[in-house]
Amino acid sequence: MDYDKILILDFGGQYSQLIARRVREFNVYSIIRGHDIELEEIKKIDPAAIIFSGGPDSVTGPGAPGVDQGVFELGIPILGICYGMQLMAQLLEAGHVEKAEHGEYGKANLELFTQKKLFKEIDNHSQVWMSHGDHVKKVPAGFEVIARTELTAAAAMADFERDFYGVQFHPEVNHTIQGKTILHNFLFRIVNVKANWNMADYINEEVERIRKQVGKGKVICGLSGGVDSAVASAIVHKAIGDQLTCIFVDHGLLRKGEAEQVKRTFGEEFNIPLIYVDAKKRFLDRLTGITEPEEKRKIIGDEFIQVFDEEAEKLEDVRYLVQGTIYSDVIESGGTDKAATIKSHHNVGGLPEEMNLELVEPLHFLFKDEVRKIGEVLGLPEEIVWRQPFPGPGLAIRIIGDVDWDKLEILRNADAIVQEEIKDAGLYRDIWQSFAVLPDLRSVGVMGDERTYGYPIILRAVNSDDAMTADWARLPYEVMQSISNRIVNQVKEVNRVVYDITSKPPGTIEWE
Ligand code: XMP
Repeated sequence: MDYDKILILDFGGQYSQLIARRVREFNVYSIIRGHDIELEEIKKIDPAAIIFSGGPDSVTGPGAPGVDQGVFELGIPILGICYGMQLMAQLLEAGHVEKAEHGEYGKANLELFTQKKLFKEIDNHSQVWMSHGDHVKKVPAGFEVIARTELTAAAAMADFERDFYGVQFHPEVNHTIQGKTILHNFLFRIVNVKANWNMADYINEEVERIRKQVGKGKVICGLSGGVDSAVASAIVHKAIGDQLTCIFVDHGLLRKGEAEQVKRTFGEEFNIPLIYVDAKKRFLDRLTGITEPEEKRKIIGDEFIQVFDEEAEKLEDVRYLVQGTIYSDVIESGGTDKAATIKSHHNVGGLPEEMNLELVEPLHFLFKDEVRKIGEVLGLPEEIVWRQPFPGPGLAIRIIGDVDWDKLEILRNADAIVQEEIKDAGLYRDIWQSFAVLPDLRSVGVMGDERTYGYPIILRAVNSDDAMTADWARLPYEVMQSISNRIVNQVKEVNRVVYDITSKPPGTIEWE
């Protein structure tokens, strides 16, 4: 299949992925690369157009991320967003960027000077989203200013000859009310791309690619129960059938019914050779008495690798390992990530490095919702495809303090009620994550004239796009009420339910 590709050059902006996603929402294939990609590499990709992302730096500062000047000679349209626009102004002849007297953050009103091309069908005075400290003081030769806002004289610029455009605001975020139309204009009025990227093609292409990559080689995959590893192994199985063996390490930290479902779906329905390893005791033994969250993560990660390694050794001549890495994982671990480690995010299923296996990563270029679509196309059950994200270390980081089997059972029972009620209320897919947490404390209650002394359950439900930020979900009171009633009545060790009303930041989604 011959896709037109849009290349997004990332200058470390927080919305780079969102740009890629917006483009793909129009059925146009997009890829993100670091801004320092070599020109030769860009030529190999052969993009139909390039978009420069935003970024946190100042183009005038020392060591500011740049781009090979040759991109302007490729003869393809370029759209610079925020930092990207400033970079164009900085690099192209006669342009000039300065620190603005007043930065502009948040909503602004866009006054248009033309509705040609990029701004076709855009309303004058529509709302855009700004976030910048520098501004383009003078547009480069060949450019004209095509819009302003109250605080920014050059809020957008265009060289209609070469089809180079710059917008100081962020068309990719929802706060720019007509942002999608602007991106649509760029793609379909300026670049004239074909909208022919779809999931079925993607699967077929991937199947071919995997066949070529692995030939007759043996492949293993670690299943976790989550959507990514499930979809990854389903594609690989479609490609190479029984050359694939899945290994499912049951660490005992899963939710109610999860292990059974994985066994049923993969072993029975999909007929994928599946090795089920009951490692509950091993994990629990090592977790006994451990209360520190990072230590729990480390132990679980290490133990997982050991168990996985042992099982893989039993199979002979395995050469490939399937990983369900998705695009956001790739970007997050990329070079531009300056974020401090808040949590180590041990991904159960991580690669035992010394195993020396070549990776097969069929989801490498996909976003979560695209992975779900593929899962649906491949016929995976709804409960797996639409499963909310679940951390690799599982319930161990939802039990505050030390973990034992009794507490796991309490939490599993309470959590199952949360899942059921959220699903019954039709909220499951809209909420990013909803779950129960078991803290390390007890309180007094009264039931049937008796004093009780039991655990509280913390109910946590958040909305989020990418887990980087999150807000607590405004669950309907009736739903909270049934969750609370059922948990207190049906889980005998629990006598109280509280709701966590903290966003992220300052909280995190998980409690540990
Ligand atoms: P926090 O708690 O950092 O979580 O706001 C953000 C997202 O990451 C998940 N999470 C993890 N996932 N291993 C994982 O695979 C981990 O150690 C881990 N810790 C948190 C969390 O569920 C949320 O989706």
